[in-house]
Amino acid sequence: TGDVGGCPVPHDGGVRALLGRTNKDWWPEMLATEILNPNGSTNPHGEDFDYAEAFNALDYNGLKADLTALMTDSQPWWPADYGHYGPFFIRMAWHAAGTYRTADGRGGANSGQQRFAPLDSWPDNGNLDKARRLLWPIKQKYGKNISWADLFILAGNVAIESMGGPVFGFGGGRADVFEPERDIYWGSEDKWVNQGVQTRIAPEHGFQQIEGPLAAIQMGLIYVNPEGPQGNPHDDAGMARDMKETFARMAMNDEETVALTAGGHTFGKAHGNGDPSTLGAAPAGSDLAAQGFGWVSGEAHGGIGEHTVTSGIEGAWTNVPNKWTENYFRLLLDYDYELVKSPAGANQWQPIDQKEEDMAPAAWDPNLKVPTMMTTADMQLKRDPAYRAISEKFRNDHEAFKDAFARAWFKLTHRDMGPKVRYLGPEVPAEDLIWQDPIPAGTMPSDADVKAVKDKIAASGLTVSQLIKAAWASASTYRKSDHRGGANGARVALAPQKDWDVNEPQLLAKVIDTLNGLRGSMSLADAIVLGGVVGLEKAGATNVPFTGGRGDATAEQTDADSFAVMEPEADAFRNYVGKKKLAVKTEEMMLDRASLLGLSVPEMVVLVGGLRVLGANHGERGHGHLTKRSGQLTNDFFVNLLDMTNVWKAVDGSGDEEYVATDRAGGHEAWRATRADLIFGSNAELRAVCEVYAEKGGEAKFAKDFVKAWTKVMNADRFDLAGSNAKA
Ligand code: HEM
Repeated sequence: TGDVGGCPVPHDGGVRALLGRTNKDWWPEMLATEILNPNGSTNPHGEDFDYAEAFNALDYNGLKADLTALMTDSQPWWPADYGHYGPFFIRMAWHAAGTYRTADGRGGANSGQQRFAPLDSWPDNGNLDKARRLLWPIKQKYGKNISWADLFILAGNVAIESMGGPVFGFGGGRADVFEPERDIYWGSEDKWVNQGVQTRIAPEHGFQQIEGPLAAIQMGLIYVNPEGPQGNPHDDAGMARDMKETFARMAMNDEETVALTAGGHTFGKAHGNGDPSTLGAAPAGSDLAAQGFGWVSGEAHGGIGEHTVTSGIEGAWTNVPNKWTENYFRLLLDYDYELVKSPAGANQWQPIDQKEEDMAPAAWDPNLKVPTMMTTADMQLKRDPAYRAISEKFRNDHEAFKDAFARAWFKLTHRDMGPKVRYLGPEVPAEDLIWQDPIPAGTMPSDADVKAVKDKIAASGLTVSQLIKAAWASASTYRKSDHRGGANGARVALAPQKDWDVNEPQLLAKVIDTLNGLRGSMSLADAIVLGGVVGLEKAGATNVPFTGGRGDATAEQTDADSFAVMEPEADAFRNYVGKKKLAVKTEEMMLDRASLLGLSVPEMVVLVGGLRVLGANHGERGHGHLTKRSGQLTNDFFVNLLDMTNVWKAVDGSGDEEYVATDRAGGHEAWRATRADLIFGSNAELRAVCEVYAEKGGEAKFAKDFVKAWTKVMNADRFDLAGSNAKA
């Protein structure tokens, strides 16, 4: 497509920008609506809109009935293959969910991002603009009671059900956003998948070389190139490697990958019966008159129906593409396949000597028989030994396949919604699933209990620094991207979190042991947060709120592997930098963590400044501890950082990670600091906020704002409290 701009930044493999390439780089002419953002929220529903409440008032069964009817209501402007839109909607739902990645929890279906660039224009999302437009009359009818984000997934579920496929359940609660998410790194390469060779896996470096946190092989793909690595259909090992690596980054194992891909491709067809060079720009760069439609065909017949070109691959996987059947594995395993080219020139695999009854009907004419096909990715389900064993198992045990597909689909489409308490609607499955990070319900401690435990903690000998560190370690794992982590569950006391270097395991164990000894019937999760309250009060803070009621998770309820990916490589709030040299600057890592915690700029500033003087730094590190009154909640960090008495200089050999301040007059050393300290004096916007806290009268404001921001972090995961889930 000609709508994508060139490379704006040279990249030499060194430090990369936090956000990589953004919409403005790809589409410089896109209308800059964000200049209005300072004037108010982009969400037309307004601040008080409670999506959970709106969803609970939805006519759920009416909506499902309308969706079922829509499946077979073919529209002349985008006719349904086989008279059924089901497969098309399944692909839409899968691509909405499939951007999720475990490393930072970003991507996924939970905010309806497929409506916005860059996702609306990724080559892999080709023609899904039509799927969303087909849904519009239903979205219009049910209005604010159903978000686009929920509708994408529910449409996928109804599609599967209406073709006889197995479904495990549905949870609503994905509130829409109304602008592209600007905090997400989609890669830094300057070419998209259809523009040339630029894979993110360097085979010479082995398996793990795809750049973190990405979970697709190239810009513009959901996962892998279906024709083979860099389009090469003969690289079986590379294809299987790419599939395993990218699916693993979405927390899918081999069995789930086989079940999902085979189950998905039991339905529908690929589209490549035409000349791809006649396709117009993707939606974000398309003509005004196209009204958001992309990939408009320049061919005389309009490029719809039988002439549709999407991936360029052409044909159905099975002989009954509008029904759930056992045919995918049968056709895959029983036939030998030969490499052929689609009319659009794509590589694909065709059964040799296919029997007529195994051929598929043409999508536009049920009386016409055409050969089925497999993509190079599908072929790995029989060529890769591990995948093949699973394929054979599923072929011989259809019930096992059905169950595996239904569960994997549910996980795929709900993985980014966080704990089950956030799910809404009548079809939420009762069964707890390990990837939901289950936490037993807690009990609300009485005021008397809280007071008693508080007094004991205060008399325990634990220091401000120790209490603050433990509470921060517990709560700060929260990420709003997929609503995982946080203080609830007290997983900070379980593997792997208790052993993370950033948490100073020995010290943490001591604090937890002490708290366990005196918390009585209060949960450990509550006691850790209450310890933070005690720490703040010892440091001079007043009116520190505490809301108890957290539960404690067990090791059995904790998928250690899936928590391992959440280990911070750096945490500016504790002035911690891990041993590994990061590709992103320390201060950018700070911004990223603040963004995942859901903090505003002033909240980030006030937290860092406060944590420094409270002694929350990792280890004995004195960097940024710009106070002579350690352990007291003062604005000293800001006062001393902005003080012109001192001059800062990088410490030789620290790689610009450490700095020293010396007195301009005397030349003696005054302070030490890191990048995560000095950025607050160097960046004009952060400095402006620091000034407010360092000003006369700023001390009281600082203490108040700190307590508020601190409490926000402590309670970030309290979806169990009334009214706190699914707020837009
Ligand atoms: C269609 C590739 C996994 C469901 C397609 C198409 C390709 C493709 C190339 C054709 C698009 C077009 O030209 O219209 C892949 C690859 C996968 C994968 C490489 C992973 C290795 C999945 C999964 C699901 C799924 C996990 C769902 C569970 C579908 C469906 C269609 C489709 C239902 C048919 C859409 C229609 O009929 O319009 N896929 N896919 N795929 N895919 Fe996948």
